[in-house]
Order: sequence, then C-alpha cells, then structure tokens
Amino acid sequence: MTLRTLDSLGSLAGRAVIVRCDLNVPLKDGEITDDGRVRASLPTLNALIGQGARVVVVSHLGRPDGVPDPRYSLAPVAKRLGELLGRPVRFASDTVGDSAKGVIGSLSDGEVAVLENLRFNPAETSKSDQERAAFAAQLASVGDAFVSDGFGVVHRKQASVYELAKALPSAAGLLIAAELDVLQRLTDAPERPYTVALGGSKVSDKLGVIEHLLPRVDTLLIGGGMLFTFLAARGYAVGSSLLESDRIDTVRGYLERAHELGVELILPTDVVVASAFGADAEHEVRPVASIEETPWGASGLGLDIGPETAAKFAEIIRESVTVFWNGPMGVFELEPFADGTRAVAQALTETRGLSVVGGGDSAAAVRALGFTDDQFGHISTGGGASLEFLEGKSLPGLEVLGWQG
Ligand code: 3PG
Repeated sequence: MTLRTLDSLGSLAGRAVIVRCDLNVPLKDGEITDDGRVRASLPTLNALIGQGARVVVVSHLGRPDGVPDPRYSLAPVAKRLGELLGRPVRFASDTVGDSAKGVIGSLSDGEVAVLENLRFNPAETSKSDQERAAFAAQLASVGDAFVSDGFGVVHRKQASVYELAKALPSAAGLLIAAELDVLQRLTDAPERPYTVALGGSKVSDKLGVIEHLLPRVDTLLIGGGMLFTFLAARGYAVGSSLLESDRIDTVRGYLERAHELGVELILPTDVVVASAFGADAEHEVRPVASIEETPWGASGLGLDIGPETAAKFAEIIRESVTVFWNGPMGVFELEPFADGTRAVAQALTETRGLSVVGGGDSAAAVRALGFTDDQFGHISTGGGASLEFLEGKSLPGLEVLGWQG
C-alpha cells in the first residue's frame, strides 16, 4: 500500500474535514516568533477551501501535559492563520466540548475553524490505547473525513495522529506528501557526495540517527553542544561545556565505526569558549586541545564551533551534492555564538544539489539569522519526525495512512 493522498477522499464539498496540522510554533510573550509551520499548512487548507469543504483544523502547541494552560493556547495561531489565508478563521475554546460543537456546526462551505490545543486533553497523549481511541472517536463524531498533514508529529502515536486516522476516511495532506518526496531522496540512493551536519545540544537525541547514517553517508560533520561529548571521547578536556559523560563510550564506538567504514566523521578543530552563558560574556577562540587554557580555566564554556571549523564545514557542504542539516552549531540565539550556525546555513544555500534543513529548531535558526526558505532545497517542518524518518523507523502517523516506506 502507498500513502493515501487527498484525491482518494473524493469530493469534499460541503463535508466537515478534520485536518491535523502541526502548528506547534515558537511563541515569545504571546507573539509567534517563527510562523513557518503555519505557512506550511496553507497548501492543504487552501485546497480544501477551494473544494468547498468545512475545514476544522486541529493541532497541539507545546507540551501542556493534559491541562488547559493559556500560555499554550492556539488562539494567536488561529489569528495568524486567518491573516495568511486572507479570510476569517473561527476559533473554538475547546476540542470536543460545546464551543467546538457550536463553531463546527455553524461553519459554511469553504469556512475554516481552529480548535483549541489538543494536548489540553490528557487523552490525546495517553499511554492507554482505549483512552486515545475514545478521544479520537469524540473528535471523529463531528467530521466526515480526516486529513493528516502535521508532518512534525507523524512519529507520535497520539489520538489525533493515529487513532483519528482509523476512525474516519483518511488521507495525507499536501505537506506530508511533499516532505516525504524530499526525505525519500535522502534515503533512497542519495546523489553523492552526501554530507550530514548534526548539531544541537544533546548527543543522546541523535544516537539512532548517527548509527543509521554512518554506513550511508560520505561525511558526517559534528557541531553544537554535542560536539563536546565527541571531543571527550577523543580524550580532550572540555571545561564546563555540555557533556553527556554516560555517552562517551557510545560515541567512542561511533568514532571507531566511522574509521572502519571509511566515513569521514569530522569533529571541530577549534571552538569559541566563553566565561559564562550570556551574550555579554567574555569569549575567545581556542583550538580543541586547549579549551581549558583560557583565563576561566575549567569553568570555560564552549558555545560555538570556531572559525577554522566553520570554514572547513562550509567548504565540505558547498562541495556536496546532497546535504542534510539538523541542529544549530552553537548558541545561535546569542549573537557572539551565532557565526558557526550562520556559516553552515550560508554554505547550504550554496550547494550544487539538494540541501535539506531538518526540523523546528534548525528551521527557526535559519529564519532568525535572516535566511529565507527559498534559499534552501527544502526546510522540513519536522525535527524529531525527520530524524526518525532518516533512522528508517516505522512512523505510526504514516503507517496508518498506508505508507510502507
Ligand atoms: C515538534 O516540535 O517537533 C513537533 O511539533 C512535535 O512536538 P513534540 O515533540 O512535543 O511531540
């Protein structure tokens, strides 16, 4: 079976279509700081509006742990969606209560409503299959069809991702189809040289993907906070930089495996070391062999890859034909430690072939640094989802739509 696509649902005119989007956007003081995921939901929503469907958008935002919490309300997201669609968007203050029923019941053909955060209901993420199925049945009772388009959550077995797809005639939306088209080019015979750049703070989040990618890539570049666990595995002192001591042996194993496979696993040769965590902290560039030889000794913190490393990573990326990048190279939110991430992003815009930016944080990083989406081959809306896809894992939210990889 292959992925069921929108056309498999037949005509949706006049039908209530529940659309699972991933509108989990970063917010600061109630303002959306990156609306990339809202924009990414537009093609499917416009297609449904164009058909005259009654469109009911559902999503999660953050991790409110099953309790209504105004900090995680989707109200600002519904407002932004209305601006981007250029039409009014109704908002319901619950998901399966009176507000939702009222709003959905009063929708006309081609109108759109957004329901409140699914994760305000503990059943959405419950470990119990029955609880999730019961919640999905309540959601399904107001719809005629279900479109799954939240690529960022397809790795989650949650009520609105998995059970809801079983409860109604269902299909994947245009975003999921587009994401799969690109990500499959990374897994099925990628054009070479194929380079993967991994950053982010924790190596423990990347173990599966490193293991899976090692035999498949030509070059693996390591940056971000996790680089210090790699440096420690090579025997370097890393001061007070982020370190996952319990992963040092695993990482040492990766270094050996890369060597056996003839894969270039490239670690930084220099890093930016700071006296403290903050934009005003004193800082200097040090070779990796002398991270503790700053005025701050063992209390120095590595917060970015150094310029020599950034130049080397950029050169390798520019010369690659397929590049996947996940995870910032440093603390890009603080300007003195943004150069490594900026250099890698810039290089991705200059590759000859396919450049893919994977994930929420990396996508937010490139936009925050002033890059635009069209400078890259593809910016995935899924962080965890794109990594799990590359790991070759079976993703419940895709499987339930007929996808078999
Ligand atoms: C994400 O931000 O990666 C998705 O929205 C999934 O969110 P979650 O990790 O809280 O399930």
